[in-house]
Amino acid sequence: MSLQAQPNVHQQHMYQKGVKHMCDNGLTQVPNKYILPEPERPHNLVADGCISLPVIDFAQLQGADRPRVLASLSRACQEFGFFQLINHGIGDETIRKMIDVSKRFFELLFEERQRYMSSDLHAPVRYGTSFNQNNDRVFCWRDFLKLSCHTKQDFASLWPSSPFDLRESMGVYSTNIQHLYERVMEAVLESLGVTNETTIYEQGNQLMIVNCYPACPQPQLTLGLPPHSDYGLLTLLLQDQVEGLQIQHKGQWVTVKTIPNSFVVNIGDQFEILSNGRYKSVVHRAVVNSMRSRLSVASLHSLNANYNVTPSPILIDESNPRLYRDTNYADFVDYVSSSDFKCKRFLESRKLH
Ligand code: OGA
Ligand code: NI
Repeated sequence: MSLQAQPNVHQQHMYQKGVKHMCDNGLTQVPNKYILPEPERPHNLVADGCISLPVIDFAQLQGADRPRVLASLSRACQEFGFFQLINHGIGDETIRKMIDVSKRFFELLFEERQRYMSSDLHAPVRYGTSFNQNNDRVFCWRDFLKLSCHTKQDFASLWPSSPFDLRESMGVYSTNIQHLYERVMEAVLESLGVTNETTIYEQGNQLMIVNCYPACPQPQLTLGLPPHSDYGLLTLLLQDQVEGLQIQHKGQWVTVKTIPNSFVVNIGDQFEILSNGRYKSVVHRAVVNSMRSRLSVASLHSLNANYNVTPSPILIDESNPRLYRDTNYADFVDYVSSSDFKCKRFLESRKLH
């Protein structure tokens, strides 16, 4: 073996510490470890045009206009798999504190953040980098903090103790989001005509992912997050004012326009299965930019690990045959650990036809 083929141990170690740490030490070029093969690079960056997602007014949903709003909700979930939620009742201050404390977490000394690094994908608290830093051939331009929030009460005592206000701000935010999620889920199910599935969201899990995307000197060579769909039922995403989320819409990558203090909500794989394919779990990714670092907070809501998700019987008849197998969390874990992960989507592996 030639010497050049040996991985540079020192540099590998640096990548494992995260993008923020690497950037703090000064960087004018993207290291090879983050450079995607040409066809996988983002050919349209944020500057190339944005779309506005369908807007759902949560306050209107609670009033006399509910049937009309449910109809728009249904269209959004079929055509985009995404919508923007406004007037949701979560206070500006709760949101501001969540973004602010998240930014300060990533500004902590690396040694402080490192305490929460873990290679265990199921750890209830996990700081890390890229998508899956144990396996990724090319790294993504992202660091993250993942926190389990619901349903177990005692998770909060495991969350980082610094910044000093992280537990409090995260606690208030995640509780508010869980409540909002339950109401949104109720509406999304109602828009589909499914009204007897309340256990599905009352028994579920909530996982909070804080994503940090440092400014990148060559954003056209890399991605903040690779194309993926979310595994769970619904995701509620909060973004700071910097754009970067792109979704696949009509065969194109389009950037989602931000609306201050709103949430981007999307359908996950479990929901697509539940809806027997009526509502779409749409592939999305994050691009980075050279001017500003970006922060997002994704609240992922999924069915309890012990439950099977199955297409709702009322959505199946002769002209709408059942499209997916019963699926549970163990199937997902098996799939993620299998060799063909990333070549094909998990959802594809659950299709019957
Ligand atoms: C996610 C995700 C998008 C973003 O965390 O699953 O898709 O813009 N995030 O951070
Ligand atoms: Ni996602």
